[in-house]
Amino acid sequence: MRRLPQARNSRATAGLAGHPLRHESAVGHVTGQASYVDDRRGPADTLYAYPGLSSIARGNIISMDLSAVQCAPGVVDVITSNDIPGHRDIGAVFPGDPLLADGEVLFYGQVLFVVVANSQLAARRAARLAQVEYAPIDSHLDVEEALAEAYFVRPTHRQSRGDLDRAQATADKQLTGEFHSGGQEQMYLEGQAAMAVPQDDGGMLVYASTQHPSEGQKLVAEVLNLPMSKVTVDVRRMGGAFGGKETNANQWSCIAALAAHRSGRSVKLRLARADDFAATGKRHPFFSRYQVAFDNDGTIKGLDLELAGNCGMSPDLSDAIVDRAMFHADNCYFLPAADIRGHRVRTDTVSHTAFRGFGGPQGMLAMENIIEQVATATGLDPLDVRKRNFYSAEDGRDTTHYGQKIEQHIIGPLVERLENTANYRARRQEISAFNAQSPVLKRGLALTPVKFGISFTVQHLNQAGALLHVYTDGSIQLNHGGTEMGQGLYTKVAQIVASELQVDMSRITCTSTRTDKVPNTSPTAASSGSDLNGMAARDAARKIKSRLTTFAAGHFGVSESEIVFEQGEVKAGQESISFADLAQLAYLQRISLSATGFYKTPKIHYNRDMANGRPFFYYAYGAAVSEVVVDTLTGEYRLLQADICQDVGQSLNPALDIGQIEGGFIQGMGWLTSEELIWGEDGRLQTAGPASYKIPAISDTPATLNVELLPDSPNTEATIFHSKAVGEPPLMLGISVWAAIRDAIGSLADHRASPALNAPATPERVLLACADMQKFMERQT
Ligand code: MTE
Ligand code: HPA
Ligand code: MOS
Repeated sequence: MRRLPQARNSRATAGLAGHPLRHESAVGHVTGQASYVDDRRGPADTLYAYPGLSSIARGNIISMDLSAVQCAPGVVDVITSNDIPGHRDIGAVFPGDPLLADGEVLFYGQVLFVVVANSQLAARRAARLAQVEYAPIDSHLDVEEALAEAYFVRPTHRQSRGDLDRAQATADKQLTGEFHSGGQEQMYLEGQAAMAVPQDDGGMLVYASTQHPSEGQKLVAEVLNLPMSKVTVDVRRMGGAFGGKETNANQWSCIAALAAHRSGRSVKLRLARADDFAATGKRHPFFSRYQVAFDNDGTIKGLDLELAGNCGMSPDLSDAIVDRAMFHADNCYFLPAADIRGHRVRTDTVSHTAFRGFGGPQGMLAMENIIEQVATATGLDPLDVRKRNFYSAEDGRDTTHYGQKIEQHIIGPLVERLENTANYRARRQEISAFNAQSPVLKRGLALTPVKFGISFTVQHLNQAGALLHVYTDGSIQLNHGGTEMGQGLYTKVAQIVASELQVDMSRITCTSTRTDKVPNTSPTAASSGSDLNGMAARDAARKIKSRLTTFAAGHFGVSESEIVFEQGEVKAGQESISFADLAQLAYLQRISLSATGFYKTPKIHYNRDMANGRPFFYYAYGAAVSEVVVDTLTGEYRLLQADICQDVGQSLNPALDIGQIEGGFIQGMGWLTSEELIWGEDGRLQTAGPASYKIPAISDTPATLNVELLPDSPNTEATIFHSKAVGEPPLMLGISVWAAIRDAIGSLADHRASPALNAPATPERVLLACADMQKFMERQT
């Protein structure tokens, strides 16, 4: 059952902000008409690049014999690091990511060289013919060992407040423990791809599948030794990205551009799925150690938490990712005393990168595991422990451990609402009764909340630009710095422009995101795409509207306050003119019908030295109830039902928002259940394809999935139409599935035995946890 709230604007103009309009490419997606990078037809002499990958984890390259590669059929060029005219390192924030291996191997699957051939198949085949001799170096693959040796890519960051020693000394109880969460492959449907087209002025045009066109532009320019003004990156859409194309798309753009630069011909590069798995970064696996002090009623008094992100071989975005884990280690809970250290552990694997939630899920899950342990230790329902610790306006329990004050207290009422609509208490009783008479099949239930901070924690990224053209027929071309990856950003931003100018959506065409239209853009990430670009586009629309208003007032001889844009018309006192006719008239009177727009998020700051500030403009909230059934003899389980309530403020588009919530929830469930990455002792990723790496299938979605958008809850901050970001927060609702599985396992024993369930809770781990419970109970009798 889906509950769509009433559209806010009930007037006739189709598709204004608030309407549940379908995705602008929905039909194209399902008919195959929507084109992706690899669908783009190049000139007849287009070449194909393919990388040759390393087959050890760590070591020096003694020799690389590429003669067989060079002589292979169809091969036109073979490129190594020495052939790069400009920068050899494409590290996005810090150095550490060589475009092509430069004498040493830093992970299994690293790009050593590139073959350029006249077909994709010829390039791929030739890439396998290299003879590489290595002098291996001992590699670090285990995060706990690397942590013990302080093998880090970046220094540790610390956030603390309150008197932790006192909290530990005075609380009723204390618990210590360790927890692991696994990585996650983004598994976008469209793999990494780029096509570079050399320009006649020595410049380069790159069609890329990237969340960050401007960074791609900068790096291509640096690699080719060109000014940025000679490089253009164009992105019409991605077939999914999920963070995996925030920095990790750059390498393929740079390689295609390098090959095109050398040959003077267009070059395409598309990774085969197994190589995409091996050569690109994933969600950071995390290891944590905690000591929590709490009272018998479940109130947390103090938390000492060490969060260790497994970053792989380079910094990439890990500084910001581990910071975001630390910013979310409180989740929705007030921590009177806290000491949180975030380590950036280096391992000799591919460098881990952004994935929906950007470290937030890992920090939040570490905390939710602690809540579960506290619940078992106190014998309380985990929901009561959660509610007891929520931030509240009372008694000063409203400030995070990094000093941001919680201003919109939504989580309490939201959870209360979901508890009722999902019938939590009655189902809890039913499940207890069921479990009492069912020795093998055990059911489990959990309600988990989410509070997710919205804004890039890197302050300067919180800006956006837009470019808007009105043509003389009244049609409108919209361009902004955000990229479309399936989330519906182009639709939402167009709705915003339609609302501002009061025109029908059919008038507006959103053109591909290009660095030559809107420069110096931020990645489309941190769920901020519509917040930032929506505001920038509105700014541009307001400029044009203001010029048209002034013009119409003069033309019709009325005051500006009498000019009203409504339903495709512009009313001037008693008179009225169509938007298109007004555009034509304004053109004849030499009024500019083109404008740029700009936005920067207000109010945000974070002093990293003091570990204090207001990094987030606001928080998005949500909660989910999941019910599972576990077969305690096999460890298999199934999600039976999920009920979700998500705070999206005043929704820009309820249909798209519900799609994001459903998809995010299922993706989060996959992270915590079936998706397991396994690296061998040689550093090779053994789960490098869908046959061994199991993402949720349609059959894994529950028969009952209720999604509600929290009604009547506009953002109290002045965001675009008082909406809230929705891209990442719902992923963390998947934590409820993990907690429900743990709950089912716990029913095998009494509250003295606390299930330890690392993530992902694969059937294997579930079975072992069940066995632990059974052993405990045997020892008691
Ligand atoms: N939805 C789809 N369909 N495909 C994607 O790749 N990426 C997610 C989320 N939803 C993604 C998605 C991630 S990681 C982010 S940060 C946001 O979308 C980015 O888009 P937004 O800021 O416009 O919400
Ligand atoms: N989220 C996503 N991507 C980012 C961030 C963030 O907070 N900071 C830098 N890149
Ligand atoms: Mo999303 S992980 O911020 O690209």
